[in-house]
Amino acid sequence: MAPQFLILSLLISCQALTSTTKASEDTGFVGSLDRATLGLEKKNQVSHFRFYFHETFTANNATSVPVVPALPKYNTTTSFGTVGVMDNALTTGPERSSKLVGRVEGLYAATSQTEFNLLVVLNFVLTEGKYNGSTITILGRNRISQNLREIPVIGGSGVFRFATGYAEVNTVFLDPQTRSTIEYNIYVSHY
Ligand SMILES: *[C@@H]1O[C@H](CO)[C@@H](O)[C@H](O)[C@H]1NC(C)=O
Ligand SMILES: *[C@@H]1O[C@H](CO)[C@@H](O)[C@H](O)[C@H]1NC(C)=O
Ligand SMILES: *[C@@H]1O[C@H](CO)[C@@H](O)[C@H](O)[C@H]1NC(C)=O
Repeated sequence: MAPQFLILSLLISCQALTSTTKASEDTGFVGSLDRATLGLEKKNQVSHFRFYFHETFTANNATSVPVVPALPKYNTTTSFGTVGVMDNALTTGPERSSKLVGRVEGLYAATSQTEFNLLVVLNFVLTEGKYNGSTITILGRNRISQNLREIPVIGGSGVFRFATGYAEVNTVFLDPQTRSTIEYNIYVSHY
């Protein structure tokens, strides 16, 4: 009785094994994975980062530059059609001289015909401690007219694989002729 039961359960487990393997063979390019293989068996943690980035607009050393001008046939107050790039210093404090912890590399585009709103795509490239080499990616609508803007965290790399969350953004200082300082509070869930 006991050996028969053993053989039966062996047969069942063999069948289970071939059916999962078969699922990946069916397509030839996809298979399921144990979460632990990617370190996902741990409970995810939530971190709050407070950063400041600093844009310089002056021509000879600009870190944030419009590349495509606004479309003239549209309402000029919205800058609709403008596209720009940036590579800004990221620091721990609102002073440009505070500790440098990374860069913000990104793109922006003015995408509203009725107000000055930006679509932003930003990579926060960290260079500090265990975060060195990891990135947080933010993509969304930056509604400039609001004091506090919210932009989704859509992912990341390194420490921030599988990241989700959001950023709260406010302008600490802005002079469109010279420079800006922007505060980012990023709430991010990661493993
Ligand atoms: C950029 O250049 C301006 C004018 O030359 C200078 O005042 C400013 O300190 C420079 N900023 C940076 C961040 O190098
Ligand atoms: C242009 O946009 C501004 C800000 O939204 C608005 O007040 C103004 O009426 C618009 N002008 C035209 C011609 O649409
Ligand atoms: C970050 O990593 C780079 C490349 O591995 C290294 O050169 C650099 O010194 C590191 N920075 C810090 C602050 O640890």
